[in-house]
Amino acid sequence: MNSHLKFQTPVYVTSPLIPSKEKVFEKFDAIWTSKWLTNHGVMHDELERRLKDVLGVQGVSVFNNGTIALLTALTSLDLPLGSEVITTPFTFPATTHSITWNRLKPVFCDIDNKTLTLDPQRIESLISNRTSAILGVHVYGIPCDVDAIKTIAEKYGLKVVYDAAHAFSTEVHGKAIGTFGDISMFSFHATKLFNTIEGGCLAYNRPELQEKIYYLRNFGIKNEEEVVEVGINGKMNEFQAAVGILNLDLFAEEKRKRKKIRSIYEAELSAIEGIDVVMIPEFATNSMEYFATRINKDLFGLSRDEIYNHLKDYNVFARKYFYPLCSDCEKYRYIPSAGPANLPVANKIKHEVLCLPFYGDLSEERAHRICEIIRTLRP
Ligand SMILES: Cc1ncc(COP(=O)(O)O)c(C=O)c1O
Repeated sequence: MNSHLKFQTPVYVTSPLIPSKEKVFEKFDAIWTSKWLTNHGVMHDELERRLKDVLGVQGVSVFNNGTIALLTALTSLDLPLGSEVITTPFTFPATTHSITWNRLKPVFCDIDNKTLTLDPQRIESLISNRTSAILGVHVYGIPCDVDAIKTIAEKYGLKVVYDAAHAFSTEVHGKAIGTFGDISMFSFHATKLFNTIEGGCLAYNRPELQEKIYYLRNFGIKNEEEVVEVGINGKMNEFQAAVGILNLDLFAEEKRKRKKIRSIYEAELSAIEGIDVVMIPEFATNSMEYFATRINKDLFGLSRDEIYNHLKDYNVFARKYFYPLCSDCEKYRYIPSAGPANLPVANKIKHEVLCLPFYGDLSEERAHRICEIIRTLRP
């Protein structure tokens, strides 16, 4: 180990974007004065309004977190109970759980080796008369093949939901990513580029969904006398919304800073044999949410897990997103589509991916040092 390269304090995979204390206190002061803490307050409504512009969609409904938002997206589409939803195993557990919480059945489909998103070539063979929807994930902000998925969905009459947790403000061929499919979910968790501490939203271009989602998010309550849906409590409170409003003014600058860090990583790491940088295709804008690499053990000389562990010795805490696969989890591994033989690409990639520390305040010096550490790890 080269101890001169070791960081004195831990360097984590991300560090949240936060507004200044003064600005937060100013907003909190207004909330205190109004005593309106939650339930569609002024901050909540302002954030929803502004997000429509930022996300380039006709409808936005904010939520207390992305998982409840995704769960509600599926509920709002009235899919037949017990029907099947084709989805990716290469994602955060919340994606698959949102299907199961709706009493629907996940059917895992393998991913494309380059984009790491649903492989459209494989979707069709998984469709049966029990299939009702496709749930794709724009993993690391890489867009799913939205055109191919649209064609398949139209051919078989399926709904399409996108988990866009990693794709805030991304455009695909100049079109806002939230305009594809029936509904998209964006997560505003503290680990995401744009955050409301915890939070998320649904984005859609089908105005008729707005009312249903509104009821579903608030216990199904229509008015003081009518409860019209089996709703949940998905409301975003005023404190979350206030942080969101302030972060809306900051995220573009955060993205600019991350772009600089990314260019350092890209230049230095692409020069190392056995390290592949996961690239965002040119037809999409980069959400700058993650910096993902793929480790080729044969070429580098160490496995992904070995690099991950060695980095810890240097106080660098990378993450193996997304290992394990959702199809490996205790509650899903026994369903027929979860068998590794059905998911060869995802099962290979889960051992290769490594996300490196990536946030605006990381500093160029630290980014260079992390690359240097990786270089020196090579046997
Ligand atoms: C792909 C994906 N989907 C869903 C979620 C869940 O979002 P939240 O944490 O806002 O509930 C996350 C991460 O947090 C995620 O990475």
